[in-house]
Order: sequence, then C-alpha cells, then structure tokens
Amino acid sequence: MEIGFGRGMFLVQRAAAAPGSFLLGFEIKTKWAYLVEQRCRREGLPNVRVSCGDVREIFPRLQPRGQVARAFMHFPDPWWKKRHAKRRLVGSDLLDELARLLRPGGELFLQSDVEERAELHLAHVAQHSDFVLAGQDGWLEDNPYLARSNRERRAIEDGIPIYRTLAHRV
Ligand SMILES: C[S@@+](CC[C@H](N)C(=O)[O-])C[C@H]1O[C@@H](n2cnc3c(N)ncnc32)[C@H](O)[C@@H]1O
Repeated sequence: MEIGFGRGMFLVQRAAAAPGSFLLGFEIKTKWAYLVEQRCRREGLPNVRVSCGDVREIFPRLQPRGQVARAFMHFPDPWWKKRHAKRRLVGSDLLDELARLLRPGGELFLQSDVEERAELHLAHVAQHSDFVLAGQDGWLEDNPYLARSNRERRAIEDGIPIYRTLAHRV
C-alpha cells in the first residue's frame, strides 16, 4: 500500500511493474484520489484500488492485521513550520498501525528530499520495537521498486539528494 500518493505516478508505475501484486493507495485530497482512480481505469490496471481519506482515521478501522507486504511513503510531511508539527504523519501512532497491518518481514519504505525530516523518520522507525532497519543503518542508495513518485522524479531531475529508508516488520 501507498500512503499519500498525490498525483499517483508511483502507484501507476508500480501496478504495471508488479502485475502479480495488489496495490491499495490512500490519499486525503479528493481531487488527486479521483484523478488517479480515473487514470487506473483508463489504463486498465485491475490491481489498484484507491481510497480517499485521512489514513489517521482509516487505518484504525482496517482489517485484517498482518497481511500487507509493503508500505510506501514517498515524501510525506512537507511542512516546515513548528506550528504544523501536529499535521505530521510519521510518528508512533502511524507506525503502530503499520506494524499491525504489515505481515512479519513486511517492508516499510520511506523517502524524503529533506535531510532533517528523513533523519527524524528514520529515528522514529528505529525506536519502534516492531521494526528493524534494513542493512547496516537503514539508509538505501536507490529506490528498488521499479517505480518513482512524482516528487521523486522532480528531485532527480533537479539533482536534489533523496534520503531513503527501508525497515522490516519483525
Ligand atoms: C508532499 S506530497 C507527496 C506526494 C507523492 N507521494 C509524491 O511523492 O509525489 C504528500 C501527500 O500526502 C498526502 N497526505 C497528507 N496527509 C495525509 C493523510 N493524513 N492521509 C492521506 N494522505 C495524506 C497529501 O495530500 C499529499 O498528496
């Protein structure tokens, strides 16, 4: 599943790159959810479903537990101001829900072009007892999923460094 798919490029590319998998995308903005759903229909992608809403409200009601293979979050939490800290998604509440939904060994992939934010995300994951960082320190050189998000593509075009984290559900 992908949280906050925005314009949906990753969802669409991943659905084509991994036709044997089933993708569930969540997006709070109605406009993007609608457009991406229409696009998936137009392109005949039977393995994608789109859900419009706030994952903080949706996830506690999602069942069953322990079935999700991968959770992707591309460039979440873009807000800079301190007073917007409450809006941030990546934290212990969301990680609790992801730990409940992911299957043992399931992957959590996070990426950001804001170094300080990526370090914070990695620290949250490292502190959570249900996740273990992949490799030596949890950082990944590249995105191994054969699909890129819109913001990722833009960052690559602009030569902006991207900080990627991979963790597994224990
Ligand atoms: C900075 S954008 C990144 C979009 C896309 N992932 C990309 O990399 O191009 C963050 C996205 O997360 C969505 N989002 C933020 N909070 C959310 C929430 N609570 N539930 C679902 N989507 C959310 C936003 O609407 C936005 O589309």
